[in-house]
This record gives sequence, C-alpha cells and structure tokens, in this order.
Amino acid sequence: MNDFIYFAHRGASGYEPENTLIAIRKALEMGAKWIEIDVYAVENELVVIHDERLERTTNGKGLITNSSLDYLRSLDAGKGEKIPLLREVFETIGHDAGLNIELKGRETAELIVSYINEFVGEYGWEYSRILVSSFEHHELQRVKKLQPEILLAPIFSRIPEDYITIAKEIDAFSVNLDAGFINKKYVEEIHNQMMKVFAYTLNDKKDIQFMKEIGVDGVFTNYPELIELTE
Ligand code: G3P
Ligand code: MG
Repeated sequence: MNDFIYFAHRGASGYEPENTLIAIRKALEMGAKWIEIDVYAVENELVVIHDERLERTTNGKGLITNSSLDYLRSLDAGKGEKIPLLREVFETIGHDAGLNIELKGRETAELIVSYINEFVGEYGWEYSRILVSSFEHHELQRVKKLQPEILLAPIFSRIPEDYITIAKEIDAFSVNLDAGFINKKYVEEIHNQMMKVFAYTLNDKKDIQFMKEIGVDGVFTNYPELIELTE
C-alpha cells in the first residue's frame, strides 16, 4: 500500500447502485485496486448497505437492524440487485483488489473477524488486502483484541482533540478523515505516528489533486475513472 490509493466508494457508486455486486464489478472493470463497502450485522450475517434505514437505496421500509435477513434479501437494492452479503463481496473481488470494510452499527466486530479469518485462512486473501474501518471506534478495539493482524482505520467526520490517541490505541494503519477537515498539519501529525491518511469522499479531480499535494495517501471516490485522470 505505498502508492496513492483510490478506494471505489460503495463500489463504482457513481455508475451503479451503491453497495451492490454490480457496483463492485464495475469498479473492478474500471481498474479500482481498492473497494470500500459498508456493513451491518443482521442475524449473524454482515449485509452490505450504507444507511441505517432501507428507504433511500431499496424498495423496502424500516431499520436494517430491525429487519429479518429474509426480508432484506427479498428487496431490490437497484437494477434488480439484492442487498449483498459480505461473503458475496469477497467472492466477487477474488484476487483482483483490496477491500475496505466499513463497520456500521453495533455487534460487527466478532463477525468481521470470523469472516476475515475464513477468507485469509481458506481463500487466499492476505491481511494486507483488507482494511477494516469505522466511526464506531469501540468495534475497532474489539477487532484489535480478537485478531491483532487486521489493519484498522478509525474514521472521523469532525476531528476531536484526542484523535491521535484513539488511533494509537488500536495501532491504526490509517486515519480516515472527512476531506472537508483535512489540512497539512493533520497530515503531518498522522504521518509522524507512521499512519496513513485517507480522505473521503472526493469526486472532483482538482480536489483529489489538492489532497495529493498536501500529502494525503489516498481518497475515496464514487468515480474510479478519476484514477487515470489524476495520474
Ligand atoms: O469510509 C469512508 C466513507 O465511506 C465514510 O462515510 O458515510 O460514506 O460511509 P460514509
Ligand atoms: Mg462508507
């Protein structure tokens, strides 16, 4: 992970319904080397969807965590696609890219560790190709305890004073920041701790160029074709 990284945010979500398998396939076709998705825990499974509620991205209604897995899997997440299971995302990516799994909601730590152990142990994935991130820093602490080899990234939308302490507690690989709050001082502070800085979410090549100039190590984008335009 030494080059500037482009994470296809929720897959190639500028082109296909976000967090679906077709958005992931599209990102791979466009050459994305990393893909970001969001997951919630439901009935001992991790389901791939961004919002807490179903209305914006599916034809369903209600809270994800208050829905049965059967109901979630019966819905249309866009273009006839189902809400994917994390397992299907691992299988779709295969050996073609890295995967950033963003933990949403609660009770995700044990499940993500068991999936990663399975896919690293049995299907040829490497820890270096998986990054687990979250605004729920407590979940990341539990992941760290269960499997210290997993690369972790706390996400911050506002940057609290103790953000470095939070990142160091889990020996973070990177700190993932809202692009609107990044400046050179933060980048340097984070680099001084030997951690990377990834910025979300940038869909304009000038903004991406600026991030590169101040030393950011990678960005999340809905338009993976920007990779070529800014290189
Ligand atoms: O992980 C980067 C970014 O995805 C965090 O925000 O709301 O798009 O999941 P959100
Ligand atoms: Mg996300």
